[in-house]
Amino acid sequence: MNTKFIELSKKSAALKAVEYLKNGMIVGLGTGSTAEYAVREIARMIGNNALNIIGVPTSRRTEKLARELEIPILKIESVKRIDIDIDGADYVDGKFNLIKGGGGAHTMEKIVAKMSDLFIVIVDYTKLVDSLDSCIVPIEVNREKVKFVSRELKKINGIPRLRKNFITDSGNFILDTKFNNINPKELEHRINDIDGVVENGIFSERKPDIVIVGRGNNVEVLNRST
Ligand code: A5P
Repeated sequence: MNTKFIELSKKSAALKAVEYLKNGMIVGLGTGSTAEYAVREIARMIGNNALNIIGVPTSRRTEKLARELEIPILKIESVKRIDIDIDGADYVDGKFNLIKGGGGAHTMEKIVAKMSDLFIVIVDYTKLVDSLDSCIVPIEVNREKVKFVSRELKKINGIPRLRKNFITDSGNFILDTKFNNINPKELEHRINDIDGVVENGIFSERKPDIVIVGRGNNVEVLNRST
């Protein structure tokens, strides 16, 4: 795979998403390499007085980046709602179901997405899949409950793997779990029902309203309602 072409694809999707922002908006700032292109573009526009927004970061990593780039930010606790959330994804299926959490930030990402009037997901074309079957689902788990949760996940045909040398922003562990068959809605709830699970990376309830797919310099805008 051509890394440069994929990076260009991510950037194209990100720049398109930023076009949706308007002055005065509260904006969810996603986590990951694709979302970072959007955060950098937002900072560039603020620096040029071309945009005036307040960001709500979805992770410490994004918060640090936003501070460095001098984007005004508010913590999630300080806002009641968000106008637009722009975030990446690891997989997007044909029905707008997502898997997120490759960067381990999906718990906050889901909260921010749910609080947003418009949820825009930006991806390069390699993230599109026909079905989520066999895709790895990141699951944030309370540290003391990892063994118990692993056993419970195996009972529902999951193959969990502890993410090495990784602790989430809330001090928890991640079990990257493979399921051969994924019914997104059913599995999202089933996993979260296990005692000790904080949140999993399936987004079947809060689907994106818009998915912007980058392919080199080109973008395709997919609207959920159409
Ligand atoms: C972070 O936890 C993730 O949900 C990211 O949004 C997702 O992994 C996409 O990241 P990239 O844009 O780096 O592929």
